[in-house]
Amino acid sequence: MLGLDGANDGGAATFVGRGGELAALRTALSDGRLTTLTGPGGVGKTRLVRQLLEGAPGLTGPDGPFPDGIHWADLSPLPDDRLLVDTVADALDLADHTPRTLAEAVREWIGERRLLLVLDCCEHLVPAVRVLVRDLLDAAPHLALLLTSRQRLGFAEERVTELGPLSTTRPVQPLRHRALRTAIGLDLLAAARAADGDEEGAVRAYGTGHAYWQAVGHPQRGTPELEPVRAELERTARGALGDQAYEEAFREGVRHGHAQRAGGPPYDAG
Ligand SMILES: Nc1ncnc2c1ncn2[C@@H]1O[C@H](COP(=O)(O)OP(=O)(O)O)[C@@H](O)[C@H]1O
Ligand SMILES: [Mg+2]
Repeated sequence: MLGLDGANDGGAATFVGRGGELAALRTALSDGRLTTLTGPGGVGKTRLVRQLLEGAPGLTGPDGPFPDGIHWADLSPLPDDRLLVDTVADALDLADHTPRTLAEAVREWIGERRLLLVLDCCEHLVPAVRVLVRDLLDAAPHLALLLTSRQRLGFAEERVTELGPLSTTRPVQPLRHRALRTAIGLDLLAAARAADGDEEGAVRAYGTGHAYWQAVGHPQRGTPELEPVRAELERTARGALGDQAYEEAFREGVRHGHAQRAGGPPYDAG
């Protein structure tokens, strides 16, 4: 019944990025009964849904939201909507031999079941999918639907997650920006402490800043514009504290920076 095997995808072993989109899709799925993942062809909609569902086995566990399974209907091979309901029935593993229509049989079979039906690649059948989805949502109170499509259906209760192209910049970029800001801030703090005559505190601040510069991955040791200030501080601090105390204060600052980056307390500027 877990029809993920039917997913039409190369089954690529590696999955790149998309952390934010995965989280958004997960939220949409838990918030409502109808979720549509939109985006241009080839952008990665099918792959993202597979990643989401395969990475969360608890979804179909007895305490999960879909104890009656996840059923995957790939609509991409359908040239028109004539076999739409048949394809859904196949995804549900439903063979009906009674005189009622297959649409009725599907409705009744889903009934009170708690399951997720994935309709992958809806864009060329949107009018028919819209009718089917309305019908199923109204008939089956615990059914959830997850669609991929180049365009949304347009229902008020539809949660839409838009998928753009995979970013070519690295996904860690926002974190790097934050580290960069902190690194520059610590260099300024060091300069201020040096101006106050607090050489040891200044050296520690430089050490902490150094940990952030390492995180940023910039080749320089610190803010370039502050290089003369740093050089002057290093000279006077070594003179005042001695090389050993200087090195120790610097290392202590670096340790503090790493601990802080790992989730420790915020930098104590006092
Ligand atoms: N995040 C990703 N990491 C790795 N491969 C991906 C990713 N997103 C898409 N792909 C690959 O790109 C191709 C197109 O993705 P697909 O999900 O089929 O696009 P769509 O469903 O939007 O048309 C597939 O081969 C898929 O495996
Ligand atoms: Mg697809």
